[in-house]
Amino acid sequence: MGNAIGMTAEIDLQQAAKEHLWLHFTRMSSYGSGDVPLIVRGEGPYVYDEKGKRYLDGLAGLFVSMVGHGRTEIAQAAAKQASELAYFPLWSYAHPSAIKLADRLASLAPGDLNRVFFTTSGSEAVESAWKAAKAYFKLKGEPSRYKVISRDLAYHGTSMGALAVTGLYAIKPDFEPLPPGGVRVPNTNFYRAPGFVAHDEAEFGIWAADEIERAILREGPETVAAVFLEPVQNSGGCFPPPPGYFQRVREICDRYGVLLVSDEVICAFGRLGYYFGSERYGYQPDILTFAKGVTSGYSPLGGMLVRDKVMEPFLSGSATFLHGITFAGHPVSTAVALANLDVFESEDLLGNVRANEDAFRATLEKLKDLPIVGDVRGAGYFYGIELVKDKDTKETFDDDESERLLRGFLSHALFESGLVCRADDRGDPVVQLAPPLICTQEHFDEMEQILRATLTEAWKRM
Ligand SMILES: Cc1ncc(COP(=O)(O)O)c(C=O)c1O
Repeated sequence: MGNAIGMTAEIDLQQAAKEHLWLHFTRMSSYGSGDVPLIVRGEGPYVYDEKGKRYLDGLAGLFVSMVGHGRTEIAQAAAKQASELAYFPLWSYAHPSAIKLADRLASLAPGDLNRVFFTTSGSEAVESAWKAAKAYFKLKGEPSRYKVISRDLAYHGTSMGALAVTGLYAIKPDFEPLPPGGVRVPNTNFYRAPGFVAHDEAEFGIWAADEIERAILREGPETVAAVFLEPVQNSGGCFPPPPGYFQRVREICDRYGVLLVSDEVICAFGRLGYYFGSERYGYQPDILTFAKGVTSGYSPLGGMLVRDKVMEPFLSGSATFLHGITFAGHPVSTAVALANLDVFESEDLLGNVRANEDAFRATLEKLKDLPIVGDVRGAGYFYGIELVKDKDTKETFDDDESERLLRGFLSHALFESGLVCRADDRGDPVVQLAPPLICTQEHFDEMEQILRATLTEAWKRM
């Protein structure tokens, strides 16, 4: 039973959080004694806890708050829409905000990605893309195509289908059996490239792309529906694509009639300095998934964009995509997305990222003088810093050391020092940064200074 008595009752938030809130991807036992970090408000690139302490939001919440916090014009767009029409479904009906947003996204997206199917989240977007790919091939008379190829360590979401696409082995066993058909290929971590291609990034990229072809041939092309790839892979610590990688992947997909799905749940809406990551790297996806930054988090929304050729079989006769989500394309969320994109335009946020990304990289690269920093990699406003035990040999920390380093010290210490970022060891240990797109040199310096002090202390403790 909770301790709230009525709608205006003040409750002890710490106590209530510990007793009633189930945090995501969180060891709940770790809050037995310590406090739950409690963020109560935000302004620009900063958030504040209940005691008024300020933190630089170096992860944009969770790769979400592109325009930063506290934008009243977006809040007002939400209030206006909720007063006019709070809810109506997209099941057989439409409403103006969803139509306007679909039209705007189609005009921004590369090539003929002209049709938008809305969801409420990234997992649902990935789930929808896999279902759309399977249904597409059934309609096209190739019903045996159902498998999906994705990369080692890649995170594509948590619902059962999206988890089957995900390449993080550690988060799956509790939920097995998963839907069949997930096939893994190598990722593009050049820092840990196999020796025979470690001397040349382009060669490494061709090898990694050709691994997709080998997987298609091994599985049987007639069974493979789609390849799911992020423009820059998040999980593992920001792996940008080597030069020529996506061009080769596109050729391979075309050769075997496989759909290329660009999972841009993180990389779209300015994270890489463009509306879409595929635009930055010059490739044409058949389906593109998005979420997070489309609303900068002022309301939840996700979706997929599909090309004309993928949509075509759904447009005739009795063909129906038998899939839908009650809150997908919610009027408030789509109105918020339009207001969010207005801010992108009026403040030229893409221009800000492009103008400052080299400075951001250069500032983070200063950390390479620390013995614990092995690699700094990424693009746009999206970076991973890989931590190593030995820079010369690239030796990584073992599981116990990594546990002590990340959960025992770094995550807490970085937050205590006023920086929200992610210390993660789902691959090798990394610290990840993805700040709001409004950040400039003063924020890069603040991140570098906090990281320098905290990583120096971490090294002493190891
Ligand atoms: C590339 C990618 N795909 C899918 C998802 C799942 O999105 P959501 O958490 O909104 O379900 C994420 C979440 O971080 C992601 O990074």
